[in-house]
Amino acid sequence: MRILAIESSCDETAAAVVEDGRTILSNEVLSQVDMHAIYGGVVPEIASRSHITVVSRLAGSAVEKAGLTKSDIDAVAVTCAPGLIGALLVGVNFAKGAAMSLGVPLIPVHHVRGHIAANYLAFPELEPPFVCLCISGGNTIIVDVRGYTDMSIMGATHDDAAGECFDKAARVLGLPYPGGVPMQKLAEGGDDRAYDLPRARIDGHPYDMSFSGLKTAVVNIVHNAAQKGEELDRPGLAASFAAAVSDTLVPRTMAAAREKGYGKVVVAGGVAANVRIRADFEAACAAEGKKLYVPPLRLCGDNAAMIGCQGWYEYLAGHVSGAGQDAFATMDIDSEFQLC
Ligand code: KG4
Repeated sequence: MRILAIESSCDETAAAVVEDGRTILSNEVLSQVDMHAIYGGVVPEIASRSHITVVSRLAGSAVEKAGLTKSDIDAVAVTCAPGLIGALLVGVNFAKGAAMSLGVPLIPVHHVRGHIAANYLAFPELEPPFVCLCISGGNTIIVDVRGYTDMSIMGATHDDAAGECFDKAARVLGLPYPGGVPMQKLAEGGDDRAYDLPRARIDGHPYDMSFSGLKTAVVNIVHNAAQKGEELDRPGLAASFAAAVSDTLVPRTMAAAREKGYGKVVVAGGVAANVRIRADFEAACAAEGKKLYVPPLRLCGDNAAMIGCQGWYEYLAGHVSGAGQDAFATMDIDSEFQLC
């Protein structure tokens, strides 16, 4: 089955064709990052308007690059939640029109389930159950993935997402948006013990996380140094910051995998690209004899191939919708779309 997949939840317009869930036939991604960089973050209206100008062309290009024609498409999958509502609506409306005109099923997909599915594309042998840490610009959750469409949240951030925290720390250090990669570059060669940054714990919720105190600590260090005219150890601060984020994420995910008795640990989302977090997971999994799965960089960030992959498993579970399908800015990963 060949699924045309559409993703437009934030600042990437993406279209892909995926065959039987696991084979990418094409994967087109158009980033808007340059349009938003001057504002230091994503401007929702600019995102929606940009999606609307390119989504149709990108979908056509995905079909063509797959070596197919429109009549070869068997279903259309689309990210329906969570994300910027205006941005989501562009993709959802396009997908509904495409599915209707082609006479094929419409499959609604949860964006973060898609990020998890990026690992199925990268690792043909990977099957649930496993624990997955989903770390992106908008989400930081530890998920018990019991099956392809059967999952529940074990822990989540109470405030900022890990990626958001990287972006805000980068901003106060005068680095461009999105801040993850510039922060990683700045941290190269830096001493990760240069600054004593907080690692928050939430009483009674061992898998929950909080990044707002860490963000505030970085802001205060930068402002205090500026006020006192002291020189900042910028690489040291970036390295200490990455260590604090990693120390918050890795032990919790490992503990969650231990609690469930799973031998597999999976990481997903844009922040999974971070070298410090990857290295700490590699060491922790090696120490505990667990197998680690982290997608290659091209599948870490937002893309539509991951939506086509998850769409296949949603289709197999009977999660097929129609012309009444809505989009939602927020939605838990363990909820199902109301099908219409
Ligand atoms: O998954 P993603 O592409 O989009 C969302 O669904 O949010 O994640 C984007 C986030 C941004 O906050 C970006 O700064 C962060 O991922 N990111 C990184 C790295 N590469 C991207 N954070 C830390 N280190 C990186 N190497």
